[in-house]
Amino acid sequence: MKKPYLGSILFLIFLLSFAFHVHSQSTPDAAAMQALKASLKIPLSLDWSDSNPCNWAGVQCSSSSNRVTWIQILGKNVTGTLPPDLRNLSALTIFDVRCNQLTGAIPSLAGLSSLQGANFFKNNFTSFPADFFTGLTSLQTVYLDYNPFAPWEIPASLKEATALQSFSAVSANLTGTIPDIFGSGTFSNLSQFYLSFNQLEGELPASFSGSMIQSLFLKEVNLSGSIQVLQNMTSLTEVALNGNHFTGPLPDFSQLVQLAYLSLSYNQFTGVVPMSLVDLQSLYVINLTNNLLQGPTPKFATARVDTGTNRFCLSDPGVACDNRVNILLSIVEAMSYPVILAESWIGNDPCNSWRGITCNSNGNITAVNFKNLGLSGTISSNFSMLTQLTTLDLSNNGLTGTIPSELTNLASLSRLDVSKNNLYGKVPTFKQNVDVITAGNPNMGKDTPPPPASPATPDGSGGGSPASSQKKSQTAKVAGSVVGALSGLGAIGMVICLYARKQKHSSTVQSPNAVVTHPRHSGDQEVVKVISTQVLRTVTNNFSEQNILGRGGFGTVYKGELNNGTKIAVKRMKSSIMNEKALAEFKSEIAVLTKVRHRNLTALLGYCLDENERLLVYEYMPQGTLSRHLFNWKEQGLKPLEWTRRLTIALDVARGLEYLHGLARQSFIHRDLKPANILLGDDMHAKIADFGLVRLVPDGKYSVHTRIAGTFGYLAPEYGVTGRVTKKVDVFSFGVILMELITGRRALDETQSEDSLYIVAWFRRMHINKDTFQQAIDTTIELDEDALASISTVAELAGHCSAEDPNQRPHMGHTVNVLSSLVEVWKPAEPDSIDSNNDTYGTDSDMTIPLELIDTGKVIEGNWEYI
Ligand SMILES: *[C@@H]1O[C@H](CO)[C@@H](O)[C@H](O)[C@H]1NC(C)=O
Ligand SMILES: *[C@@H]1O[C@H](CO)[C@@H](O)[C@H](O)[C@H]1NC(C)=O
Ligand SMILES: *[C@@H]1O[C@H](CO)[C@@H](O)[C@H](O)[C@H]1NC(C)=O
Ligand SMILES: *[C@@H]1O[C@H](CO)[C@@H](O)[C@H](O)[C@H]1NC(C)=O
Ligand SMILES: *[C@@H]1O[C@H](CO)[C@@H](O)[C@H](O)[C@H]1NC(C)=O
Ligand SMILES: *[C@@H]1O[C@H](CO)[C@@H](O)[C@H](O)[C@H]1NC(C)=O
Ligand SMILES: *[C@@H]1O[C@H](CO)[C@@H](O)[C@H](O)[C@H]1NC(C)=O
Ligand SMILES: *[C@@H]1O[C@H](CO)[C@@H](O)[C@H](O)[C@H]1NC(C)=O
Ligand SMILES: *[C@@H]1O[C@H](CO)[C@@H](O)[C@H](O)[C@H]1NC(C)=O
Ligand SMILES: *[C@@H]1O[C@H](CO)[C@@H](O)[C@H](O)[C@H]1NC(C)=O
Ligand SMILES: *[C@@H]1O[C@H](CO)[C@@H](O)[C@H](O)[C@H]1NC(C)=O
Repeated sequence: MKKPYLGSILFLIFLLSFAFHVHSQSTPDAAAMQALKASLKIPLSLDWSDSNPCNWAGVQCSSSSNRVTWIQILGKNVTGTLPPDLRNLSALTIFDVRCNQLTGAIPSLAGLSSLQGANFFKNNFTSFPADFFTGLTSLQTVYLDYNPFAPWEIPASLKEATALQSFSAVSANLTGTIPDIFGSGTFSNLSQFYLSFNQLEGELPASFSGSMIQSLFLKEVNLSGSIQVLQNMTSLTEVALNGNHFTGPLPDFSQLVQLAYLSLSYNQFTGVVPMSLVDLQSLYVINLTNNLLQGPTPKFATARVDTGTNRFCLSDPGVACDNRVNILLSIVEAMSYPVILAESWIGNDPCNSWRGITCNSNGNITAVNFKNLGLSGTISSNFSMLTQLTTLDLSNNGLTGTIPSELTNLASLSRLDVSKNNLYGKVPTFKQNVDVITAGNPNMGKDTPPPPASPATPDGSGGGSPASSQKKSQTAKVAGSVVGALSGLGAIGMVICLYARKQKHSSTVQSPNAVVTHPRHSGDQEVVKVISTQVLRTVTNNFSEQNILGRGGFGTVYKGELNNGTKIAVKRMKSSIMNEKALAEFKSEIAVLTKVRHRNLTALLGYCLDENERLLVYEYMPQGTLSRHLFNWKEQGLKPLEWTRRLTIALDVARGLEYLHGLARQSFIHRDLKPANILLGDDMHAKIADFGLVRLVPDGKYSVHTRIAGTFGYLAPEYGVTGRVTKKVDVFSFGVILMELITGRRALDETQSEDSLYIVAWFRRMHINKDTFQQAIDTTIELDEDALASISTVAELAGHCSAEDPNQRPHMGHTVNVLSSLVEVWKPAEPDSIDSNNDTYGTDSDMTIPLELIDTGKVIEGNWEYI
């Protein structure tokens, strides 16, 4: 008996000494942290006064080793430089100084093998070290955007960051080529690649083929050459290549089955838009404007289409071109649709001053003169379809391949000049009277193609002169003032950047939720209590009918009042017999739920469990559900909600959801978000209720409506079909709620005709044009110009959120950004505003779980303009 006793005493001593160590002794990283503090000008709003850096605001240490693991200073106006000693913080996992005014060189972090995220977004850094990525084997995200760097190139050390998921350096004075290091073998997880607004040169690297990149943003970076490599980038969901010098035809898109966003505007693409693109089911936005695309105007079934300013034969989408146009295009297809021809081939009549084309008075093409145009590719056999052709001159180009034998069928042909090219093979036998000139083709007559360069393939990989296109840099526009929201990190950044910018206007933006709660705040408060059934029976008047607040899929909610007057809501879960295992799971789930605290989530105050009852106690929300105010306001004698209210409610819900989604250790998906689960306080601010309950119901029958969790009308299509649950399921429901807020209509309105039953389809139709859209807006909303602008933005957001393809839906971080900027605009300058940038570090009731990892998932869909 003695030994275990002694053991526990020793253990206790060990614990005490450990606690002593944690609380009074500095971290081994103190010297490096002091060096950091010394080289930064820390504002008063950041408390870095403690002798132990682990207690500094925005700094976290691991509790086991007391090493600094996390440094996060978001948008605090901090100036100064970063010291080289940062490299000594070898346990660092997150380093994030986004949206400050730091200057000087970014120091090398080489060797920090635990570093997962590095964020230097929007500062005044002047240089970036070439060895930055050396040994950064855990690095997942790096943001370098919007810094006034001296010109730099993507360093070779990038290859070592094999865990990379996001690489972002928008508007960062980046020069040189994109290195050819992106094969799937090297960066198996790289999904986001943002380099827009830089001064690159060269082409898309061949190793992009087979990469796992999903988002590729290379706007206005001065690249050239063909984009054929895209056809092998089958993971792509978003691509922006606008404002470059890309040439050649569009690639085959048939394998890009997840592609939702494609912007290719302002390049020099030529040729017919491939049906593989037109037919792409996943496509949501397509922008082809300002190119030299040919053939019929494509008819996309996509939400947002821009095909303006091209070389399409007719302006009506889907209408076929004149047959002569089709023949000529099929001929130049073999030459990769040369720019020089596309430039002058305007309209639907080749006889109307098309370069190289001569017609007779009947409109028949009689001569084709492509002499001396620098053409590459091959001679198409389709020349034989120009039946009236008398002269064909292809001399002095770089054509390869053979002379097709079909040309001998041209009955009127009198002259064929293919001299000075790179043709080979036997010259077919033409009629006696045809003048065939083949001089200046060294391999003419030989059976095999010339050894060095093989003939170009008809799909045009020979086009666009790939080898010679390393053009000199040109001055490209740099969008200096664009604020980008880039992934989880960036999305939060944007909020803060807005804050910093809008400071002048005396209003504020709410601080982001996804910030670090200081360790000393967490876990030292026992909020949740186990309450006896008897007490709850008493306070709810024995669960009397009069106390019912509402009924839902999970059970009935009763109002209760404690002795001291505090009101509570008691949810009595539908009873079903629970076995011990289910009970244990239920308890552990409750334990987790009670820790989830956010101002926009209804707090679980207590619970009660026995063999007959499962009761959950929540804070009481006096104004009841959102549906009551949105749909039943008349019956309930309420006033309809003003647009500003709706907007703040939307933002509250977005923030609550962002928080639920953003918890790293345990991320929650609500799965049943709807106005009936959104509760309002007396100030009409909103909180989400019933989160996490789906997982608490043992038998899987948690919804009144469906076998799977969720409610018809709010269910994302993929969830209904596959049962596949991701956070994007909630984003869909959120989009539906936005539509309801705009229209005052229910998600599923059985009084409507079949095709207007579901709000999503109906809303999409109404949203197409301005008039119908205005009709769709809830008539109780007072519409002035500002309101309409605000509503339009929310409508756009609603559309993104409820996109069919989950990949197209934004993360909640993005919705928070969009909505908070609107609320910002709308909010009258109330001096008593409860929002303050000071709440970044939270209060206990705000949040008790520190986020230990930043969600590195995709965030930016829908925010395409900024990256
Ligand atoms: C960081 O490490 C370097 C090399 O080990 C050392 O010279 C330097 O003094 C360290 N910095 C601090 C602040 O301890
Ligand atoms: C921030 O809030 C804390 C407590 O809520 C307060 O003590 C502190 O003075 C505030 N700081 C600023 C800069 O407003
Ligand atoms: C950072 O750059 C901005 C914009 O160029 C400038 O206004 C600001 O003064 C700079 N801050 C510092 C500390 O250099
Ligand atoms: C890029 O670098 C050049 C040369 O140092 C400098 O003149 C220019 O201002 C920089 N551009 C940006 C956007 O910082
Ligand atoms: C890629 O991500 C997966 C899943 O998160 C992880 O298991 C794997 O180690 C990562 N690969 C690399 C090279 O980091
Ligand atoms: C696409 O991938 C295939 C198979 O790996 C390869 O043969 C082809 O050259 C690639 N095409 C492009 C344009 O990269
Ligand atoms: C297409 O892109 C151009 C510029 O790149 C832009 O001006 C235009 O608004 C875009 N069209 C759509 C429908 O987004
Ligand atoms: C060209 O010639 C053929 C007869 O060979 C005739 O049928 C056709 O209508 C003519 N015109 C055009 C515009 O094709
Ligand atoms: C940042 O600092 C500038 C002056 O240094 C000040 O005008 C501005 O209000 C500060 N912004 C914030 C968000 O503190
Ligand atoms: C009322 O009692 C509850 C439970 O004991 C307690 O949590 C709450 O703070 C009390 N409220 C007031 C206003 O005293
Ligand atoms: C929701 O959060 C926002 C900001 O975090 C806050 O202004 C609002 O009051 C919250 N809602 C409630 C009901 O507390």
